[in-house]
Amino acid sequence: MANVFRKFRVFAKVTESEVVTSFHLKPVDGGPHWQAQPGQYLTLRVPSADGPVFRTYSLSGDVQQDDFHRISVKREAAPEGSNAPDGVASCWLHDQVQEGCVIEIAPPRGAFVLDQESERPVLLLAGGVGLTPLLAIAKVLARSNRRAWFFHACENGDVQALGNELKALDTVSEGRIHSHVVHRMPTERDRAEMRCDSEGLIDKALLQSLLPLDDYEVYLCGPIPFMVAMFRLLHELGIEESRIAYEFFGEATALDRMAAKSAPLPQRASHAPKAIATLVNLTDPDAWAISGSIVAMAQPQGQASDVTDVLFSRSGVSVSQTGQAQTLLELAEEAGLEPEFSCRSGICNTCRSTLIEGRVSYVEDPLETPPEGQVLICCARPEGPVVLDI
Ligand code: FES
Repeated sequence: MANVFRKFRVFAKVTESEVVTSFHLKPVDGGPHWQAQPGQYLTLRVPSADGPVFRTYSLSGDVQQDDFHRISVKREAAPEGSNAPDGVASCWLHDQVQEGCVIEIAPPRGAFVLDQESERPVLLLAGGVGLTPLLAIAKVLARSNRRAWFFHACENGDVQALGNELKALDTVSEGRIHSHVVHRMPTERDRAEMRCDSEGLIDKALLQSLLPLDDYEVYLCGPIPFMVAMFRLLHELGIEESRIAYEFFGEATALDRMAAKSAPLPQRASHAPKAIATLVNLTDPDAWAISGSIVAMAQPQGQASDVTDVLFSRSGVSVSQTGQAQTLLELAEEAGLEPEFSCRSGICNTCRSTLIEGRVSYVEDPLETPPEGQVLICCARPEGPVVLDI
């Protein structure tokens, strides 16, 4: 892979909660930091015993006004008593990366961004550290004329990050942004210091009691069960699917299969960014039952309804795509194949495959365009019949 990565120095490392730490980053080359849209993420190249791995972290600062980048990372230690390894990247950042360290970063990416053309009121729903891209979005909203309601659900005040910045939005926006923090299991200190606005979960009654009736655009980010539960709630409230945007990070196929198999809730989603990988206890397990709907909704709207055949020639398997803009990786998985992948977002090249015949287009541009005749199947979809050497 050509080197699209750039060196950044950590000039501040800030503890935000018991589990979340922010890293403030400036380019080593002395040039300006990158322009980014609110909601986008950075890709970090992280050293590991098995070679570099790539991890994405949402920008959590004010992407229009800060002269540096900030990511806020939850340390993902393996659950006690499990054989699972600790999160490679988050533990490296928390334990090894100190102020002054230099790390390698690729430019901002991601389509989960604030629609700055719209004038509709905004509803932001965050679970756990899924707060981070929504905070970046809210910081920009605070300077607009739009009204916004920002709900943040988390376990308690000890793990809640960036609460002061969330509350400050109410003032900075001159009352146009209303924040509301919900602690599932508040501590005595949370109650004594009023660190949350309500206790329990974000549910229909809470939203109905606080939200004026309006035509909202919704931005949703959190652990997968949280997103599924919120999606169901938004449906009940009559909010159209086309008004709901959420950070999904390419886990659609995995979720779909897990739901189909009625698999138990995972401790964390294996390939999802850390932003959506925690706090599984916030929501009820049967929320998985509707994950098929949220998966379907994740596909871009308005795709052609023609049937497209994809032949995986080495495996002798073919599959038809009927209308939904699935990626070639998703189609392969649907056909029962297990091609290698890692990032599922065009960053790592793990899924690179030979295109024997046909044309593809990219749902999301790869970080680095693959050589002629090769395709990154995680972010490419077929444009007509396609033959792949898989
Ligand atoms: S899985 Fe990383 S580029 Fe496709």
